[in-house]
Amino acid sequence: MNNNIIYMDNHATTPIAPEVLAAMMPYLTTHFGNAASTHPFGVTAKDAVDKARQQVAELLGCSGAEIVFTSGATESDNLAVRGIAYACREQGNHIITSTAEHHAILDTCHALATEGFETTYLPVDKYGRVSPDDVEAAITSRTILMSFMYANNEVGTINPITDIAAVAAKHGVPFHSDAVQGIGQLPSDMERLGVDLASLTAHKIYGPKGIGALYIRRNGSRPHSLFHGGGQEDGVRPGTLNVAGIVGLGAACELAKNYMETGKNCVATLRNSLHQKLNTRLEDIHLNGHPEQRLPGNLNLCFAGVQSHALLMGLKSVAVSTGSACDSESVKASHVLVAMGVPNELALTTVRFGLGRYNTAEEVDVVADEVVKVVNRLRELALE
Ligand SMILES: Cc1ncc(COP(=O)(O)O)c(C=O)c1O
Repeated sequence: MNNNIIYMDNHATTPIAPEVLAAMMPYLTTHFGNAASTHPFGVTAKDAVDKARQQVAELLGCSGAEIVFTSGATESDNLAVRGIAYACREQGNHIITSTAEHHAILDTCHALATEGFETTYLPVDKYGRVSPDDVEAAITSRTILMSFMYANNEVGTINPITDIAAVAAKHGVPFHSDAVQGIGQLPSDMERLGVDLASLTAHKIYGPKGIGALYIRRNGSRPHSLFHGGGQEDGVRPGTLNVAGIVGLGAACELAKNYMETGKNCVATLRNSLHQKLNTRLEDIHLNGHPEQRLPGNLNLCFAGVQSHALLMGLKSVAVSTGSACDSESVKASHVLVAMGVPNELALTTVRFGLGRYNTAEEVDVVADEVVKVVNRLRELALE
């Protein structure tokens, strides 16, 4: 159905890699056992889960015992923030995060306010980065958690995670990172990054939707479970394991590990080529996010004078995203761009290109031609 549309929205989700699908298929068909069962069907499923846990652990440079499988990053974020808040409520009630986080973090913190927890929302700089000095200054004797994303899903900016981790360690505050966009694209060794908890999800790394994990450092604070049930995943996340999904996540992690060693620069080269083609042929376009400290496939641009929704409707052969959201009444600029200080009028002209593993140089040419054509046409129409 979508054969003629070029997919450049890989921050929203990625296609399932053929290798991942092949690894999953037996667990959707013949190997359907419950990993908790003791008969051979169960043992086959449990062996597959153990293998996948190891594949995830290898990408993260951690032990399998430090991985808890979840339904995705929204759940991992909720488990980390709410679970640590509950686990540490005797020590304090203060959380630190930033205004540019994903809503899975922001809305969890907002919800916790009704239960007596207080959150400091730190500002970000014009590139979307949190300052480690601001983090240090915000810590109080009541601080029980800090949560900062590894890389931003809209503008791709990479936070100074290791510096923030050093601040967290110095003050003994547990540090969670929503690492969804960074894991599998940027250095993913948890020990080196220095985080205590990290969220990831398979569908951003060419795995299936509805499966993710939370890394929980051994010897660190352990979140309280948000559910009651059968005791799976050490009781932190009970529920029958999604064996096929877990196998898919494991396979995706193994592929990502290999790809990072060989292919990461290819995506950045294509992204830079698209940026250069647009820059040389169009006036008044602005890059959002950090020029260097940015995800390899991310290109978030404002096309001054062109409403992003009009641009998206005009682009017939490419799938990309806007930097804004429609509610019933109006179009709102993204909270990330607002946090970075991008003027509202400009923020409403934003388009996010998310290049990925399967994009090609030919596709970049087609997309550049089409964007130039549609932007020029919309700008001409605005003058009439
Ligand atoms: C930074 C970030 N955090 C969390 C999520 C939510 O992930 P999931 O779709 O697995 O719930 C996303 C996905 O859009 C994301 O980009």
